[in-house]
Amino acid sequence: MAAPVALIQGASRGLGLQFCRHILKSRPAAFLVATCRNPEAAAELRDLAAGQRPGRVTVLRMDVTREEQVRAAADRVAEAFGRLDLLVNSAGMLHPSGRGETRLSDVSAQVLCVALHPGTVDTALSRPYRRSVPSGRLFGAERSVELLMSLVDALDAQKSGRAFSWDGAELPW
Ligand SMILES: NC(=O)c1ccc[n+]([C@@H]2O[C@H](COP(=O)([O-])OP(=O)(O)OC[C@H]3O[C@@H](n4cnc5c(N)ncnc54)[C@H](OP(=O)(O)O)[C@@H]3O)[C@@H](O)[C@H]2O)c1
Repeated sequence: MAAPVALIQGASRGLGLQFCRHILKSRPAAFLVATCRNPEAAAELRDLAAGQRPGRVTVLRMDVTREEQVRAAADRVAEAFGRLDLLVNSAGMLHPSGRGETRLSDVSAQVLCVALHPGTVDTALSRPYRRSVPSGRLFGAERSVELLMSLVDALDAQKSGRAFSWDGAELPW
């Protein structure tokens, strides 16, 4: 069987970068495609990629609000691998001024798709909201990604199309 391929959007920092670390460590055979808006400035991601065997990590420029960049990345993955086993959209656009969601057009009926809430996680994005988080409820990115990946590993068709919190509780939407 061909090695699995994972694509992480928003891989330059925060949860996306941690998803990359987790996959590279826990799935030795997997290939990783890591995307962000400015790969040149993504020093931690570039260091992570440089520490892997050649060809294992592909870093691509992708702003998820730019349809042509999403399309170009999809074409690169199709050409290089011909498959995609895991797509994590961790592009951080929490603020009302942010635009867009990753489009899920062109996905096949065999794709399992869920929305996952990571908890409140110690990243740049959560900084403005920290004061309202009870002590002991601010996760590190490593813990949050471990919890989310165990939900991903337990995905089945019945769960597809639904939203879940880090603890597995279903979220209404
Ligand atoms: N942290 C929390 O407590 C928390 C709670 C609930 C939900 N979430 C969700 O978890 C996800 C990740 O958040 P985080 O905490 O890891 O945020 P973060 O540390 O701020 O990282 C956000 C990532 O998204 C990328 N990004 C931002 N705008 C983008 C765009 N238009 N196109 C592509 N990439 C873009 C950033 O890359 P560049 O700036 O380098 O392009 C960065 O890699 C977000 O969807 C967020 O809403 C987080």
